[in-house]
Amino acid sequence: MTQTQSGEAIEFPPELLAFIEEWKVKPGSLIMMLHKTQETYGFISRLAAEKLAILTGIPLARIYGVVTFYHFFKTSKPGKHKVSVCLGTACYLKGGGDLIEEARDLLKIKEDEVTTDGLFSVDPVRCVGCCGLAPVMTIGNETYGKLTKSQLPKIFEKYK
Ligand code: FES
Repeated sequence: MTQTQSGEAIEFPPELLAFIEEWKVKPGSLIMMLHKTQETYGFISRLAAEKLAILTGIPLARIYGVVTFYHFFKTSKPGKHKVSVCLGTACYLKGGGDLIEEARDLLKIKEDEVTTDGLFSVDPVRCVGCCGLAPVMTIGNETYGKLTKSQLPKIFEKYK
């Protein structure tokens, strides 16, 4: 187990360790390793970033720089149900922006927040590949298309 800068410890699963071993020697691989870390934990915790710095020799400040630059990377744990509202062109033109605002209002959260019961977080995503159904929202593996704001309360209710 590697001791991080903060004195706490985190054990990466073997699959993630193997991925980092393979990629750390390749130039420009930090983003790949961060993606894999987020795929494993759902977000990039401070501990995970510290551990990645130790394993790769990449300065922690650079890792934080990349994590905070790209909106895709999350620094806090997402809700149990990840609500993703598509803001790709087709969905945006059909009111995706209003949907994301309404979803956050209904759940009483702001950007990067999780509901107090830990159930929901709401994030924008790029085109999810079903533009014909715009505007689209996904929750876990479920896709909701041709969505209107008035449908949201009932949908969220199913996940409570
Ligand atoms: S733009 Fe939303 S699914 Fe393509």
